[in-house]
Amino acid sequence: GRVRAPTHIISTISDDRGEEPCYAGVPMSSIVEQGYGVGDVISLLWFKRSLPRYCTKFIEICIMLCADHGPCVSGAHNTIVTARAGKDLVSSLVSASETGLLTIGPRFGGAIDDAARYFKDAYDRGLTAYEFVESMKKKGIRVPGIGHRIKRGDNRDKRVELLQLFARTNFPSVKYMEYAVQVETYTLSKANNLVLNVDGAIGSLFLDLLAGSGMFTKQEIDEIIEIGYLNGLFVLARSIGLIGHTFDQKRLKQPLYRHPWEDVLYTK
Ligand code: ACO
Ligand code: LMR
Repeated sequence: GRVRAPTHIISTISDDRGEEPCYAGVPMSSIVEQGYGVGDVISLLWFKRSLPRYCTKFIEICIMLCADHGPCVSGAHNTIVTARAGKDLVSSLVSASETGLLTIGPRFGGAIDDAARYFKDAYDRGLTAYEFVESMKKKGIRVPGIGHRIKRGDNRDKRVELLQLFARTNFPSVKYMEYAVQVETYTLSKANNLVLNVDGAIGSLFLDLLAGSGMFTKQEIDEIIEIGYLNGLFVLARSIGLIGHTFDQKRLKQPLYRHPWEDVLYTK
């Protein structure tokens, strides 16, 4: 009989060998004809399945709300500095050390996976918000998804409110989100800047999406959380804004950036 030579690569999400490319078995023509959106394409390429409309809409809202947050945040600031140094689009977007996309990490934008991990673990183990936060403090770990540089208890993050409103209206259950809100209530009693931030809102709500949609087995949910799919939402979203900032600087013909001496504390 015929023997199949072993392959060097295994791939399961897309196929371009036929008459038309397919994403998770869905041909391009269906994607266009059925009016799929970017949320559907993410569902197919990341989760290998079509998700219900409220899920794909939620994914799209996450992308839209995280697309940009002004020029002052770490990622945009560094993209602007790189663009002003005359670098090209891709360099300005990713760039070498600590620039653009590379600033996305545990403190900025990249706390979604850890927020989902810790909230899920604490909720599933039945810890109260108090027990969870205090156990994190004992371990010396900041609660991922909690805290913001400019948002406060009396100046909430509108993005968080919008995501929560959408989920409360459309999701069958928001138990993880409610848990995150309990955590926030407790952390806010300690300090006014310890709000549930957009990473924490997305992390907890994605747990609700995964658990409540009936589209994933328990094992698949654990795998998604373990691998860490969710920071991908922020990386993808913020790329839109960072590309915009690069074009903006080039359009404005901004010169090389140099940080003002007055803004540095020179000390020994
Ligand atoms: N959990 C517990 N305590 C906290 C937390 C937290 N998440 N955040 C701040 N604190 C407390 C700590 O006591 C901290 O003191 P420490 O430095 O000894 O740990 C104190 O508040 C002051 O911390 P700062 O670093 O001054 O707070 P800052 O305003 O710089 O921090 C930040 C903001 C980086 C977001 C922080 O709250 C944090 O690390 N949060 C967890 C990571 C996270 O969720 N990041 C995503 C932010 S949203 C986004 O980027 C889109
Ligand atoms: C963001 O989305 O970039 C922010 O929440 C971070 C910030 O400091 O505003």
